[in-house]
Amino acid sequence: MKTLSARALAIAPSPTVAMDARYKEILAGGRPVLSLGAGEPDVPMPEAGVQAAVRALREGKTRYAHMAGLPELRSALSRKFHEENGLEYPPENILVTSGAKQAVFTALTALLNPGDEVLIPSPYWVTYPEAVRLLGAVPVEIATRFEDGFKLTPEALRAALTPRGKLLLLNSPCNPTGAVYTRAELSALAAIAVEADLYVLSDEIYEHILYGEAAAVSPASLGPEMAARTATVNGFSKAFAMQGLRLGYVGAPAAWAKAMIAVQSHAAHHPSTISQYAALACLEAAPGVLPAMRLHYQEAREYALARLREIPGLRWNDPDGAFYVFLDITAFGMDSVSLAEYLLEKWDLATVPGLGFGREGYLRLSFANSREVLAQAFDRLEQGLRALAPHAPA
Ligand SMILES: Cc1ncc(COP(=O)(O)O)c(C=O)c1O
Repeated sequence: MKTLSARALAIAPSPTVAMDARYKEILAGGRPVLSLGAGEPDVPMPEAGVQAAVRALREGKTRYAHMAGLPELRSALSRKFHEENGLEYPPENILVTSGAKQAVFTALTALLNPGDEVLIPSPYWVTYPEAVRLLGAVPVEIATRFEDGFKLTPEALRAALTPRGKLLLLNSPCNPTGAVYTRAELSALAAIAVEADLYVLSDEIYEHILYGEAAAVSPASLGPEMAARTATVNGFSKAFAMQGLRLGYVGAPAAWAKAMIAVQSHAAHHPSTISQYAALACLEAAPGVLPAMRLHYQEAREYALARLREIPGLRWNDPDGAFYVFLDITAFGMDSVSLAEYLLEKWDLATVPGLGFGREGYLRLSFANSREVLAQAFDRLEQGLRALAPHAPA
């Protein structure tokens, strides 16, 4: 038989999804395993969204709709971009997708040619390099440093530039590190992007999950030259806990948006109309629901960090956004996959190895969990790591 696609065979399945699948498999087998692994909200989606979805179904809104998304949703997203992010994407420059993951993939498909280089600060969200590879383009990982809060510096970006460099991927707040770039930090990177004629893809899916003084800044808002080269991805999975309904979106400069819409028209036609009606209702309900969501994650974060401070041998940067802690576990003398397996098999606790995010020596924990689950999960983590203490520094 002839071989499968070399590109498909060259990519690895998402390690976060694989760990979640393994956790669910163990749970189904009856073992009382807990998870700090999955990157998903633990809260229900807003009731207004549920009602809108049910209403849409009852009203028979189940036929094909516009391939780029419902006109009223694209208009609402255009207003949202303007009011919340200072961005001017007209409705026709907005594509509604089946999750932010598909928005990223469609934006890359519309932009990249084989051999193009995509600059990706690492640690990164697992999907970026694999999606780039799948398109025959080349991911160029730029290692960020723990000491810099895992943020890309202008010097590191400059050093990674080549004539084939085409796109810079930014993700703030960042999965897995929780890093949030300031306006000044983004402006310094933006100046280089403009000078080097790079496109920018900004993944802002965690924009509403922020702590302390951290603020979300959209790179496309940093002046007309950035607006002309930046696509902004967002979605309803995190802020509105609609992850199973698969709804994301992307705003882009006109030509890039047009190419994306053409891609989607063949690849997916459009995301579920039911999910789109739910999303529209969630946008309207946002002022009433987002503060409670933020408070929930704030409390979970404080609890998680307090528990981590009790465990000797760990090091991390407090997250300024998203709902993860990226833990330096090098003191325990095990690689990240072995440590994650140890915690899963011996202590019934799922975590995600840093390797999948491009950084050995780390584990990613998600604190998007109820206090009850967190309390038990951190008991297990503490016991599991204390049992390894001989390897850790005193
Ligand atoms: C940084 C980042 N971008 C995009 C996504 C995808 O979200 P969605 O569920 O909308 O596809 C995730 C989900 O984990 C993420 O962490």
